[in-house]
Amino acid sequence: MGNTKVSVLDVKQAKEEGRKLTMLTAYDYPLGLMAAESGVDIVLVGDSLGMVVMGLNGTVEVTMEDMIHHIKAVVRGCQGPLIVGDMPFMSYNTSIREAIINAGRLMKEGGCDVVKLEGGVDFAATIAAIVKAGIPVQGHIGLTPQTASALGGFKMQGKDAAAAKQIIDDARALEDAGVFSMILEAVPAPLGKLVAEAVKVPVIGIGAGPDVDGQVLVFHDVVGLFDRFVPKFVKQYTNVRKIIIAALKEYNQDVAEGTFPGPEHSFKMPDEALEQLKEMIKK
Ligand code: KIV
Repeated sequence: MGNTKVSVLDVKQAKEEGRKLTMLTAYDYPLGLMAAESGVDIVLVGDSLGMVVMGLNGTVEVTMEDMIHHIKAVVRGCQGPLIVGDMPFMSYNTSIREAIINAGRLMKEGGCDVVKLEGGVDFAATIAAIVKAGIPVQGHIGLTPQTASALGGFKMQGKDAAAAKQIIDDARALEDAGVFSMILEAVPAPLGKLVAEAVKVPVIGIGAGPDVDGQVLVFHDVVGLFDRFVPKFVKQYTNVRKIIIAALKEYNQDVAEGTFPGPEHSFKMPDEALEQLKEMIKK
């Protein structure tokens, strides 16, 4: 969307204008800088950091403090894109009051522009209250990783007509609650199209096929930085992990063989000072 700061209104307008939205996760300052330089519209500081940054098995253990720490770093590097802060598991599930307080903390302490939370019909009242408090909310339906165990694992959702209808109900409830956009994760492509058609706000897909209003992927998946688990819907555009490991092996070898550091990486000392020093330390 150019060099200026992307706003919630820009995101909504993109759908009206038939322009696809691009969204990427980022978790720290250098990733924030790179995401911004790439020109994406939206950067999500996702709780997927639990897996790709912290080495956890899922997102459940990620805390508010983890999220604030990472949001702060991304915000410092990421000037243009709209920055979404992900609300971690149990930061919005116990009461509406706590949800508003925690959404506010992500913005006030982390510095993100908007927040995202997972859930459909059951979370519509919570979302409406956060929006009423002045905090823009992005929804997240379909596969909701924080409750993956209740869904039977990290599986495609909306397989049969009843389950698919529930996802469309979720999307409509989120729109009525006032979300400015929503993530739709891991559903059949035809369902992705129907969900995007069912609501006026942008539906940003991740594993929801091409006929939605934009796409989001995890940074590490796009560049091949993390290979423990690569979902079917990921397109890996490069494999920087291989490049980095090759560079590190070369470094190890250079140090072991004494070819690094060379003269070009070493500081010089005037000959006279060196001679004087040698005299001074003679025993
Ligand atoms: O946490 C995350 O990165 C997400 C995306 C997968 C949408 O929620």
